Amino acid sequence: MNLTEQVIRSFQNIENERHRFLITTFIKKLHEYVRETEPSEQEWEQAIRFLTETGKLCHEQRQEYILLSDVLGVSMLIDQILHEKNEVQTPSTVFGPFFIDNMPIRPFGSSIISDDAAAPPLLVRGKITDIEGNPVAGARIDVWQTAENGMYSGQDPHQSTDNLRGVFLSQEDGSYAFQTILPVSYPIPDDGTVGKLMAYAKRSVWRPAHIHFKIEADGFQGLVTHLFLEGDEYLQNDAVFGVKDRLIVRYSEEKADDTSRERYGLNTDYRLIEYDFILTGDESRER
Ligand code: BEZ
Ligand code: FE
Repeated sequence: MNLTEQVIRSFQNIENERHRFLITTFIKKLHEYVRETEPSEQEWEQAIRFLTETGKLCHEQRQEYILLSDVLGVSMLIDQILHEKNEVQTPSTVFGPFFIDNMPIRPFGSSIISDDAAAPPLLVRGKITDIEGNPVAGARIDVWQTAENGMYSGQDPHQSTDNLRGVFLSQEDGSYAFQTILPVSYPIPDDGTVGKLMAYAKRSVWRPAHIHFKIEADGFQGLVTHLFLEGDEYLQNDAVFGVKDRLIVRYSEEKADDTSRERYGLNTDYRLIEYDFILTGDESRER
C-alpha cells in the first residue's frame, strides 16, 4: 500500500459518508499535487507561512480565506456548480465580505443614501418574479454598494453604517424600487496575503462597479447577486471572476416628469436602471 492509500485508509472510520468522501478526495488530490510539483522543503515552509499569515488576518470583520477563495476562482466555481442548473432564474454571483445584516427596511421607491452624495440620483426599479413570470410579493431585497470613494460603509469610518444600504419589500405586483447613486469600481482589500499574491502575479485587484442584492422570499431559493454597469473597464478582468453577462445593465438618462415627482419625489434629472429578478421555487433545491 503506498503512502496515499495508507493516509486515505486512516480516515475510513469517519461515519458520515459525505464527510469521508470530502476528506479522502482532498487527500488524494493533495498528494497528486505534491507528487506532480515535488516542492522543496523551503517551498513547503513558504506555503505553511502563507497559510499561517492568512489565518492570522481573519477575525469577525475580515475573512482573508474567503478572499483567497474568491481570487482563486473557487467561490465562483462553487456558485456555478450550485446555481447554473436552471437557466431561467437570475444568475447568482459572489457574496463578498461587505454585507451588513439588519439594515433598515425602507419604503418603496425611497433612497438608500444616508450621507451626502454629489452624483446625480439613480433610480433602480423592476419586478421580482418566479420563473413563469408571476409576481413575487413580499420578497425581502437587501441592497448594498460603494460610495463615490469606492468604499462600503463598515469599511469606511467616515460613512454612516446604513449609507448606501437598505432592505426593500416587493409590492403586491412584485415591483421594487429604490434611489441611489451609481456604484463605482473599487479594489478588493489588498493589504493582506491575498494582496501580496495578486501583486506577485501582477494581477489587477479591481472589481467592476456593481450593486449587491440578496433576495429572499417564502417558497423560493435565496438569490445573492450583483448588477454590473455596462461599459465598466473591469468587466473583463474582475479580480474575483464574478461577472456574468445577464447581470450587466445599462442605465438611461431621464428627465424629471410628473410621474417621477409624484412616485419617487425626483425633481431633477436622474438615471434609471430597470431590472427584473427571477427566483426559482424552493422545491427544486438540489441539496
Ligand atoms: C464584493 O463585491 O464586495 C467583493 C466580493 C469578493 C471579494 C471582495 C469584495
Ligand atoms: Fe462589492
